[in-house]
Amino acid sequence: MDSLEQKLEERRKKNSLRVLKESNTYLLDFSSNDYLGLARSEKLKKLILKEYESGKYLNGSTGSRLITGNSTLIQKTEEYLSEKFRFPACLVFNSGYMANLAIFSSIPQRGDTIIYDELSHACIKDGCRLSLAKRIPFLHNNLEDLERKLRTAEGQAYVACESVYSMDGDMAPLGELSELCQSYNARLIVDEAHSTGVWGEAGAGLVNELGLNNSVFAVVYTFGKGMGIHGAAVASSQSAKDFLINFSRPFIYTTAPSAFELISIQCAFDYLKTHPSLQLNVLSKSKLFNQQLAEFSTPSPIKSVLIGGNDKTKALATELQVAGYDVRPILSPTVKEGTERLRICLHSFNSEEEIILLCDQLKRHLGQ
Ligand SMILES: Cc1ncc(COP(=O)(O)O)c(C=O)c1O
Repeated sequence: MDSLEQKLEERRKKNSLRVLKESNTYLLDFSSNDYLGLARSEKLKKLILKEYESGKYLNGSTGSRLITGNSTLIQKTEEYLSEKFRFPACLVFNSGYMANLAIFSSIPQRGDTIIYDELSHACIKDGCRLSLAKRIPFLHNNLEDLERKLRTAEGQAYVACESVYSMDGDMAPLGELSELCQSYNARLIVDEAHSTGVWGEAGAGLVNELGLNNSVFAVVYTFGKGMGIHGAAVASSQSAKDFLINFSRPFIYTTAPSAFELISIQCAFDYLKTHPSLQLNVLSKSKLFNQQLAEFSTPSPIKSVLIGGNDKTKALATELQVAGYDVRPILSPTVKEGTERLRICLHSFNSEEEIILLCDQLKRHLGQ
């Protein structure tokens, strides 16, 4: 057996082989990141198409930003986003993965230290691995451990966290984190992948909602989750933006986003501004879920139901799917062995009745 097949076989044996599956559009969606239903909004689609057809846009951007891919449209989109996020500058990326890779691989220099929450997303960790700076994890959401690490940090310290953790759905203590970082002169970088759209005025995220813009070094916003479209942006100072344009390889060596993607970004935020009930709705659905299952308290729409073991977690997900709920298992190695779970996502469009019925099913499985 060749070495690739051997590795795949190991995964098969552990019941952890990753395979691509089609979305179950006939099941009730309790797994997508489309928290506000914008990915499926016909009204938003019409808005995007109308705007797209009203101008003379190329189908593709034709090149990287530094060669032929720059345009008035992309610059205007960045101005729009920096106003919305209340940061001096914004730089658009093709995805949140690229944005995090760009920041962490280029900004912290040799001799600096990156201290990242141990539960940070793979793209933050991958960015750190590409950096010449020293990298150390701190215990999840643990300010004491972070402070211990800040005390011994060399050079400029950078601290990485997520506003809402993608797998556990819990939230970072952003206010305390930013105070601690300020007292050690550390630069805080916040990934708002799962709070963009859901929190803040017209979806501007938690850093905005908490008024922390002036104490955070950079924020990564993504548009493929709550905003229902695709792409990402880094909000920061003008000099951090200029630095990324000059030194970050995931920005320099890739084709710029198309006009269609850029138009979608502005349309999605404009749409959300005129539909604030979507945000209120998803947060109230999250509250309802917490009322049904007492062990849940996170305000975020991501609910992590720890099961443990790939076989058991997969079997439970299948059972819920047969009952009509699109609930997905998150298996090791995506999460640590022993912490395999169902990752349930709530949406503005899930009805109260659907949520209560799903919680009843979960209660039976959790022995309540
Ligand atoms: C916390 C976090 N950051 C970044 C990303 C990457 O964003 P994108 O899907 O736009 O590449 C994800 C996506 O899974 C995420 O959960």
